Amino acid sequence: MPADQKIPHIVILFDQWEGFLNGIGDNCQSSVGQAVLGLLREGASAGIHLIIAGDRSLLSSRTNSLVEHKYLLRLADRTDYAMAGLSPRELPEKIGSGRAFESATSRETQFAVLDADLSSQAQVRALGVIGQKATQSQGGVDLVHVPAVFKDLPVKVSYPQVLSAAGGASALVPWRPVLGIGGQDVGPVSVDLMDIPTFIVGGSTRSGKSTALVALTRSCLDAGVPVVLMTPLRSPLRELAAHPSVVASYAGADITAEVVREVLAMENILLVVDDASAITDYPVTDEFKKIGAALNNNGLRVIAADGLDELDRVGALSWMNELVKRRHGALLDPASIFSGKPFGLALNQEILGQVRPVGRALVNVGDGQVTSVQVASGGEVF
Ligand SMILES: Nc1ncnc2c1ncn2[C@@H]1O[C@H](COP(=O)(O)OP(=O)(O)OP(=O)(O)O)[C@@H](O)[C@H]1O
Ligand SMILES: [Mg+2]
Repeated sequence: MPADQKIPHIVILFDQWEGFLNGIGDNCQSSVGQAVLGLLREGASAGIHLIIAGDRSLLSSRTNSLVEHKYLLRLADRTDYAMAGLSPRELPEKIGSGRAFESATSRETQFAVLDADLSSQAQVRALGVIGQKATQSQGGVDLVHVPAVFKDLPVKVSYPQVLSAAGGASALVPWRPVLGIGGQDVGPVSVDLMDIPTFIVGGSTRSGKSTALVALTRSCLDAGVPVVLMTPLRSPLRELAAHPSVVASYAGADITAEVVREVLAMENILLVVDDASAITDYPVTDEFKKIGAALNNNGLRVIAADGLDELDRVGALSWMNELVKRRHGALLDPASIFSGKPFGLALNQEILGQVRPVGRALVNVGDGQVTSVQVASGGEVF
């Protein structure tokens, strides 16, 4: 099987449907029943197929209208054939074992048996043998071929957990920092700073902005990327300052125009700025306005965090415009569908209504899509 393809179909088999009715409900009104109806309605488009065997209750329940192909074996009451659209008068007097009629066409079919011994024990045994053979010949299916599994995002994930899911520190790619766990495959989600040199993190107070910066910065540091930290306000990012790959760490009033000039002249570094709009000194912000040239010419990459209102208010003349204009970032706890704009995220009420634990971000990893990510938190810093 080609490496980029998955096993195409999942088949779910129910035997003795009537035995499930207690749990499912006569009209599938229970939650399990609703789930089965959902699979009957929409499963095929996702490659999920159901085969259900049962007595006449299958014909009277809602499954009857949702199932496309129906085969009717011998029924005790011949008038029941009419429920599947077959005319009892057109069917033979005597219907032998294993002889079935398709509802839409009345086509007559003799079902195959698995063993010459027709007892049900022998048939089940024969099925077991087929199963064993299939396991032997197909059991070593590579994980990449296994059908997509819909997993829930964890409500909390630590940085070491994310790192090990990503294959360990040695598997990290410089300029592709890992933010957390997410996406459809609930795997490590990384941010692309090779193609897009800026990434912003936005959210309300205490929403986990600094934590997201720490995760991104740690995975850059672990990949050997030289990093400069700027923290105008108190930030957990400062705890990373002792890491050998941190070139410099500037806090509060240390962030001067001179410092900004020096940093923007450095080649191929990652600059991480927490609470960006808290840098307000005019000479400093004036110096920061040259950041565009450094992004283009010096291989500078920048990750910055700020409040949603602050990011939303960034105008064309602000130095921070260089950070937001590429519309690349992670949004924690959006306030409205408009909150997505600085991040290039098209939000809707459905996304907004989702329950979000602390540290759950909506991320544009560079493809313009909304990817849900549980941001890595905690764990020993080194
Ligand atoms: N990814 C996460 N997973 C679990 N808990 C988190 C996560 N991110 C943040 N938290 C919790 O929220 C608290 C605040 O996080 P953090 O300091 O990152 O938020 P912030 O948005 O930077 O806050 P501030 O507005 O004060 O700068 C943390 O101390 C932690 O308890
Ligand atoms: Mg913070």
